[in-house]
Amino acid sequence: MFSRLRSDIQCILERDPAARSAWEVLTCYPGLHALVLHRRAHWCWVHGFKWLGRFISQLARWFTGIEIHPGAQIAGGVFIDHGMGVVIGETAEIGEGCTIYHGVTLGGTSLYKGAKRHPTLGRNVVVGAGAQVLGGFVVGDGARIGSNAVVVKPVPAGATAVGNPARIIQAEADVKREQAASQMGFSAYGVTQSDDPLSQALRGLIDNASGQEHQIALLWQAIENLSGPSVAGGRDCVPKDAAREECFEAEKLNQLVGK
Ligand SMILES: CC(C)(COP(=O)(O)OP(=O)(O)OC[C@H]1O[C@@H](n2cnc3c(N)ncnc32)[C@H](O)[C@@H]1OP(=O)(O)O)[C@@H](O)C(=O)NCCC(=O)NCCS
Repeated sequence: MFSRLRSDIQCILERDPAARSAWEVLTCYPGLHALVLHRRAHWCWVHGFKWLGRFISQLARWFTGIEIHPGAQIAGGVFIDHGMGVVIGETAEIGEGCTIYHGVTLGGTSLYKGAKRHPTLGRNVVVGAGAQVLGGFVVGDGARIGSNAVVVKPVPAGATAVGNPARIIQAEADVKREQAASQMGFSAYGVTQSDDPLSQALRGLIDNASGQEHQIALLWQAIENLSGPSVAGGRDCVPKDAAREECFEAEKLNQLVGK
């Protein structure tokens, strides 16, 4: 029992920059108190002492402002920060290392008794303040739920979900990055295993720089044509220090990275 308490305290010290000592964590962190009481309540629940489980859960709610149904399954290393207003439903499951902020609901949307109505959080999931995760789906390992998000669908491992209804921003960012990368002449994901992705990226950047060099040369030509002797001020209207002095040697650089 004490080793579990020690590891709970340790995980809070590691994850909360405001935590200064084990004594402070033990005495001033309602999330810790709620989890310690939940373990007692859960033991009662699974051993058939349903009312006692509910009563301990209710006591914990009075003292901490955190309501965890005694049936909920919570792994070790979970940190409920601040905690006020957290509600965790009967069939919720929370994996190791998750962090849950105040105002979070792990709730259900159906009223069927006995069914899996509440979400399952994988390992190391972060659920931001005020987020509502509603339904019996899975939030994958390492996923992050933004504060005040309303999540009603599964979240893939490692993804970030924000907004109401929540959308996956990691996937959107990946698509944008891939588009930008292909415009620059390389594919971030399309490389074959034998290719060195760093060289591919460098080659893409070099080709892109070379293309821009070419465009700038064309622009220079157009400016020089426009500012010919017929135009007032002639060639003098082009600033001298803006003149092109160096040529970009794309071929040479490409040879260096092995094209
Ligand atoms: C979701 C979260 C983890 C994302 O962090 P991140 O990966 O660094 O994301 P960014 O800050 O780069 O934001 C990426 C995009 O998502 C948006 N976004 C981030 N968090 C959001 C939120 N909670 N709700 C809506 N949109 C959000 C940003 O505006 C940005 O949009 P843009 O690309 O259109 O500019 C973080 O914003 C968050 O909400 N963490 C919870 C923190 C918390 O509850 N703390 C309580 C302490 S007491």
